[in-house]
Amino acid sequence: MNSTQDIFNKAKNEIKKLWIDHKELSNFVTFPNNLVLKNLKPQKAPVTDKLFNWNENLNTNLTELHRAISNLSPHVNWEQGYNEKEVDKDFLNKYGFFELIGPSGHFETSEMALYVNFLDKNTYYPWHNHEAEELYFIVSGEAKFESKDQDEEILSSTKTRFHKSFQPHAITTIENKVLSFVIWKNKFEHISKLIKE
Ligand SMILES: [Fe+2]
Repeated sequence: MNSTQDIFNKAKNEIKKLWIDHKELSNFVTFPNNLVLKNLKPQKAPVTDKLFNWNENLNTNLTELHRAISNLSPHVNWEQGYNEKEVDKDFLNKYGFFELIGPSGHFETSEMALYVNFLDKNTYYPWHNHEAEELYFIVSGEAKFESKDQDEEILSSTKTRFHKSFQPHAITTIENKVLSFVIWKNKFEHISKLIKE
């Protein structure tokens, strides 16, 4: 096994442990047991190095997991989901995600999708929605979550937040970055769309 594969498998094993320790995750969706590591070409984004270099002030109960994910950063296919016509350039410098597990992820499965989501400090991720049911799980850092018909909440490490199908939501960071898992089930073929305010 080469070292890049080791980095991916380390991350997968840490996430698998998380599913055992956190019932919110296993109750939301079963962790797939037949994941196949594909050879996807890495793609950088402005946040690639920010995550890779985030080694201090982690604000996490999951240091080992944070490090496993941060070590993946240079090896994954980063995406942004939106373009400059939809969001401002500042946002695109501060936001990125990669599909670690899923139909087009590094670990292929058709059973669920797990995106790793990074948001820099002082960032506003505008209101958006999507068909998939979604569970956010905070790995490290902190952010404010707003969603329609629900009280807003500041979430930190190990906290979760569920979004129903098409329920609008927005995320804001202030003095902390946030690293989270975004887990999708049911109808996860369709991407996220911004909502005009
Ligand atoms: Fe979402």
